[in-house]
Amino acid sequence: MIGIILGTRPEIIKMSPVIRECERKGLDYFILHTGQHYSYEMDRNFFEELELPEPHFNLDVGSASHADQTCRIMTGIEKILIDEQPDTVLVQGDTNTVLAGALAASKLNIRVGHVEAGLRSFDRTMPEEINRVVTDHISDYLFAPTETARQYLLNEGIEERKICLTGNTIVDAILQNQKISQTRSKVLDDIGVKPKEFFLATSHRQENVDSYEKLRNIINAFENIHNELSFPVIFPMHPRTQKMIQQFKMSLEGTIVMPPVGFLDFLQLESKARLVLTDSGGVQEESCILGVPCVTLRENTERPETIRVGANMLAGTDRDKILSSSREMISRTATWSNPYGDGRAGKTIITLCNGLPPRNANH
Ligand code: UD1
Ligand code: UDP
Repeated sequence: MIGIILGTRPEIIKMSPVIRECERKGLDYFILHTGQHYSYEMDRNFFEELELPEPHFNLDVGSASHADQTCRIMTGIEKILIDEQPDTVLVQGDTNTVLAGALAASKLNIRVGHVEAGLRSFDRTMPEEINRVVTDHISDYLFAPTETARQYLLNEGIEERKICLTGNTIVDAILQNQKISQTRSKVLDDIGVKPKEFFLATSHRQENVDSYEKLRNIINAFENIHNELSFPVIFPMHPRTQKMIQQFKMSLEGTIVMPPVGFLDFLQLESKARLVLTDSGGVQEESCILGVPCVTLRENTERPETIRVGANMLAGTDRDKILSSSREMISRTATWSNPYGDGRAGKTIITLCNGLPPRNANH
């Protein structure tokens, strides 16, 4: 039996091809939702749009400090894993849900597969970097999306036999949903913008939005981009950012702010944007795959492939650097190729998990 653990928006989206493959093959599996994300537009909306089965378990842990949240998730997961006794647990990415899931499972001697293993920003001030490093080192199978990620794992002494180059499941998710998005999404008409005549922005990184100065710079940069480059900036806002904007009593001028949108609308916004500005990991990958230039509102990235192919540029949170990077990126033609695989990562991962011997034979 396979236990799929997820808890946040990007995990639901990037695990969806893995879940679909389990369904297609009629495998014995369950979905364990930690409830790290719980607002309709961060959670349920994706199950509905992507037509995913209901999670078999939901821990409803909600929001808390890092230690508290991680601890609550571990305690809840441990009980379920003891009852269900899966052979393999799959986690995806770098959230507290991933760290807690991998820790709880590995201590029960349950095999852990880490989807999207080997990403490194080499910045240990990011909570996600801690989660990635720990998870990779306690996982039994590491599904690396790119050769760079595979190499990082080898450099850290992880045994080659544990690592498998699969591509990133986000390519599968895009391919499975792009046509549906084109026919169903009316988001451009609803907002009143034309293709290639707007910029798309997202920002939610703890180190950016929890800092008054950095968030102020980012918002000022969006305002300036609107004034100087004459296209509107569309900003579907993560709840963390909404909370901090209210807390800091900030207002946004010249920016179209809206609640987070569903994946189908977001794919339309991304693929039709003139430029994407983001501090999201997934959005850097998606804009690269969709052939839309990206400016990353961070000093580093664990997605160096996007920069290498010419699709992305690091601007940090300095207002002038964001502006100059935006000018440079809108002048680039999207001739790069997608470094994240052919859209069969979900199938590869499930074929590998399914072919493994029963747990007791392995440990
Ligand atoms: C988490 C992940 C981050 C990932 C992001 C995806 C960690 C450490 N961080 O960050 O790596 O990029 O998810 O979006 O795991 N909130 C709501 N409704 C929700 C969820 C959150 O209102 O459904 C608000 C709460 O005020 C909460 C805040 O957002 O305190 C932050 O949520 P949390 O899950 O702690 O971290 P994210 O910033 O979402
Ligand atoms: N996304 C979405 N609606 C939005 C913003 C983002 O569906 O309003 C999707 C986006 O397509 C990507 C994922 O959410 O697949 C990225 O999640 P997020 O930026 O929250 O997390 P990260 O990738 O940084 O961990």
